[in-house]
Amino acid sequence: MKTTDAAALNEWYAVETSTDLTARPVRTRLLGQDITLFRKESGEIVIREVDDGCSGPPLPVREKYGCVWTTLGAPNREIFEIAEADEPDRRFVPCGWVKMRASGLRVVENFLDMAHFPFVHTDILGAEPHTEVPGYLSEIRRDVDEVWATNCTFFQPRIAATETEGAFVHLTYRVPSPFVVMLYRICPTAPDRLDAIALFIQPVEEDLCRAQPVMYLVDTVSPHSALLNFEQVIFLQDRIIVENQRPLLLPLEPRQEIPTRADSSSVAYRRWLKEKGVRFGTTMGAV
Ligand SMILES: [Fe+2]
Repeated sequence: MKTTDAAALNEWYAVETSTDLTARPVRTRLLGQDITLFRKESGEIVIREVDDGCSGPPLPVREKYGCVWTTLGAPNREIFEIAEADEPDRRFVPCGWVKMRASGLRVVENFLDMAHFPFVHTDILGAEPHTEVPGYLSEIRRDVDEVWATNCTFFQPRIAATETEGAFVHLTYRVPSPFVVMLYRICPTAPDRLDAIALFIQPVEEDLCRAQPVMYLVDTVSPHSALLNFEQVIFLQDRIIVENQRPLLLPLEPRQEIPTRADSSSVAYRRWLKEKGVRFGTTMGAV
């Protein structure tokens, strides 16, 4: 059943990879609602809600960041900007959709969490004994209505596909919409620039989602397959973690899980979701 959560309905969602969409209609689900989408010969994309086999009127469509986006509501703003997407020398690497039995909000929270690096991404994004998360800043930026975590550092044995030596990486996290999370990291081969990695999440049901990492990299060296493989290995490790978290839905009440200092980005994210009134994918219940 389609959610009644207006905050979730009024957001944009990536639901397909642009290059994968053809004239053959694809059926998928968004926020508990069946939708169908296809590309006309003219190139125009048509997306409709489907109820009891009947198609509704066309939904809004955008093509951005290599994906097809839509909404079931009336967003009060356009899809967020990724400035790096406009830089012509960037490598664009869409990594493919992965389905996960978890709330999409849990997937965002896991992406924000640095404390799991040594234990889940052992010898890639972290390694013992370097388990401490140094202090960083988290904030809800009111002017843009986004969550940011800045001044993040962490010791990583292998920070990118180009690297084999360990180093303290400098990371910035950004949550531009409830079901999208981004990471900016200083690019190892061009230290004055930032690699931008976004994770687009399609909330299918409250406890089921699809997610696609999309990367805009400064890397003239690595073959495409190495970039893809690096990200996919990490992401599949994360899938095991988020699918085994309980509850599968994200609690917004602070007393249900005790935060530590390393969780300050998660605390800001949950507070922001609560302020916005997002219920889909939370333990508050969304229907
Ligand atoms: Fe992870």
